[in-house]
Amino acid sequence: MKEAQEEVRRVYGGKGYVDESQLHQLKYLGAVIKETLRLHSPGPLLAPRENYESCEINGYVIPPKTKIIINAWAIGRDPKNWTDPEKFEPKRFLDTMVEYNFKGSKFEYIPFGAGRRICPGSTFATPILELLLSNLLYHFNWKLPKGMKVEELDMEQPFGAAVRRQNDLILVPIGYSP
Ligand code: HEM
Repeated sequence: MKEAQEEVRRVYGGKGYVDESQLHQLKYLGAVIKETLRLHSPGPLLAPRENYESCEINGYVIPPKTKIIINAWAIGRDPKNWTDPEKFEPKRFLDTMVEYNFKGSKFEYIPFGAGRRICPGSTFATPILELLLSNLLYHFNWKLPKGMKVEELDMEQPFGAAVRRQNDLILVPIGYSP
């Protein structure tokens, strides 16, 4: 949070407010969003697919018209694809921003899905996330409620096709004036 906040305040420092014009300069915040979507993808099982033709995967014959469920959640945490997969480490995306995009170019990273069924809302969703988060980081410092440690943050998610936090995130905002 500290690094993302420093970046937002550096980029928008002289302006006094956050707007769309410099969002592209928020590289670290972009990496934070990517890492969040890797670990906590809101659509963990993508949309179901069906194959037209028979095919073989790892020795298993998949007959035509089989319903295919793609587990993007597991792919995003697969140790074959990611170093320290359970660790929240935005920096892993800093040098690979173009490679690991939201277009499904690399099947190791598919929070918006891939192929012709990919999420049509991704180019709308990402600037909204950037605007929301950069505003919250620019105008407030954030603390955990009294006595709570970072390790105690509850990151549980419910079961479902679209997932969110199981329990509300409760934080204490402290107004910041640039
Ligand atoms: C962070 C925000 C979002 C995430 C992570 C997300 C993720 C996804 C995923 C994983 C799929 C399934 C894609 C696949 O199976 O290949 C999907 C489908 C879809 N998304 Fe999103 N989405 C987001 C925001 C939005 C927004 C803002 C809109 C609309 C404005 C939207 C509209 C849709 C629609 C219509 C589909 C169904 C596409 C189809 O099956 O033909 N999404 N989304």
